[in-house]
Amino acid sequence: MEERLQKRIAKSGYASRRKAEELILAGKVLVNGKVVTELGTKVSIKDKIEVEGNLLEKEELVYYLLNKPRETVSTSSDELSRKTVVDLIETDKRIFPVGRLDYDTTGLLLLTNDGELTNILTHPRSNVPKTYLAKLDKVLEMEDFFKIKEGVLIDGKKVRVKHLKIKKKDKKKNTCFVEITITEGRNHIIKRLFENLHYDVIKLTRTHYAGLDLGTLLSGEYRTLTRKEVQDLLKYRR
Ligand code: URA
Repeated sequence: MEERLQKRIAKSGYASRRKAEELILAGKVLVNGKVVTELGTKVSIKDKIEVEGNLLEKEELVYYLLNKPRETVSTSSDELSRKTVVDLIETDKRIFPVGRLDYDTTGLLLLTNDGELTNILTHPRSNVPKTYLAKLDKVLEMEDFFKIKEGVLIDGKKVRVKHLKIKKKDKKKNTCFVEITITEGRNHIIKRLFENLHYDVIKLTRTHYAGLDLGTLLSGEYRTLTRKEVQDLLKYRR
């Protein structure tokens, strides 16, 4: 079976599809010893592919669901040498997080070496639902609740909210917990949404992602996804 070169590189876990495309265009990919810069080039299992001098081997694909603790970065390596989410998982594969959560955000994060699936899930049009539990520094006013439901403009683009619920109010301490489901993935979007209405997000946890939940995983714990769960994630392909 033939497939596009960038797809083959992404599947190997070497890089995401977008990164693979950059490598091809930069002349860093060799097929059977020859530089190939054409993005649509088809390759088969028999072709010998080298990326930046490394021979590609078909790597076994692995998928993890992590309950991310605070004070971990959602990258594979950090220039400030902070602990990364990848450090928390015992594997010899080159895994990377699917999207990102802030340093101080906790909760559900997927990690994999499957560049294809990562591209599917992080594509802006994939509309993957993500549910967060946010602790606010004030009780959310009903007026603001409805503003959020209607869609607040951030950088000129509405944040579409699929679900919004006040879970708990503490009038004495003047805080509340809000459950919110969105389908977009802009950086710091939940914090920015509430800041826009003059609330501070004191704590943020992602409880659900693409139909998956944290289950009984404690902070820092992880599990592998089942085959069925991986297949269900592929349904977000557009
Ligand atoms: N929105 C945020 O503000 N932070 C996250 O980590 C995720 C969504």
